[in-house]
Amino acid sequence: MKIKPIVAGNWKMHKSLSEGVSFVGKIRNRILDKEKVKVIFCPPFNSLFSIVEALDGSSFGVGAQNAHHEQQGAFTGEISVDMLKSMGVQYVIIGHSERRHIFGETDEWINQKIHAVLNGELIPIFCIGETLEDRQMNQTTEVLLHQIKLGLGGLDSIDPKKMIIAYEPVWAIGTGETATNDQVAEAHGNVKTILGEMFGDISKGVPILYGGSVNEKNGAELIKTDDVDGFLIGGASLKEDSFCSIIEQVTTYYRG
Ligand code: PGA
Repeated sequence: MKIKPIVAGNWKMHKSLSEGVSFVGKIRNRILDKEKVKVIFCPPFNSLFSIVEALDGSSFGVGAQNAHHEQQGAFTGEISVDMLKSMGVQYVIIGHSERRHIFGETDEWINQKIHAVLNGELIPIFCIGETLEDRQMNQTTEVLLHQIKLGLGGLDSIDPKKMIIAYEPVWAIGTGETATNDQVAEAHGNVKTILGEMFGDISKGVPILYGGSVNEKNGAELIKTDDVDGFLIGGASLKEDSFCSIIEQVTTYYRG
């Protein structure tokens, strides 16, 4: 099953509306092989609609960084999948480690969000990953198994075109510390095995992204790693040259 690699930029709480629109406009004008790599921007809510408009007619994707699982209601500060969809958003990051650790999202809640995103016919970018403590206690595989089992619980099947997994070791996010190729290969291999056990052969087509301090210096090596189908990038996705350089590295070195 051929997978098209993905490079997604998670802007977190960065860039004003005008900065965001100008940024995607510049990247749109760069010569990138968009046939070979799917590029997705995940700006904060404030600029989603304008960025969808700025990218109209291009093959770039736009994703949100979160969504509530209910369709509407008294949930101050939240946004629903339908609201995102009505703005032309196609992807939603779910279960990012900052949502889990700063905002207290649980696996059960993440599971409800995944169902809501799929029911709304958007594509989840489902984030999983162990903390440093988990890794030091040799719990990485168990933690990933637990997060995947609960996060994807209640799904009868999986459509590889409508699911993206992002493995992001918590200790590597925003720290400048990247997991080694062996650590990444092992984690991604385990994710594949878990998905295979849950959903069978069809899951082989689900893209598994790596995230955690990916930059223009380590992108080439990381994308050559077994079972790495692209990246979810924070810091380096905010800089035009770094982001484009990583896209080029994925275009050149992805082995799929
Ligand atoms: P980082 O963030 O690239 O800055 O480590 C990755 C992420 O949080 O998705």
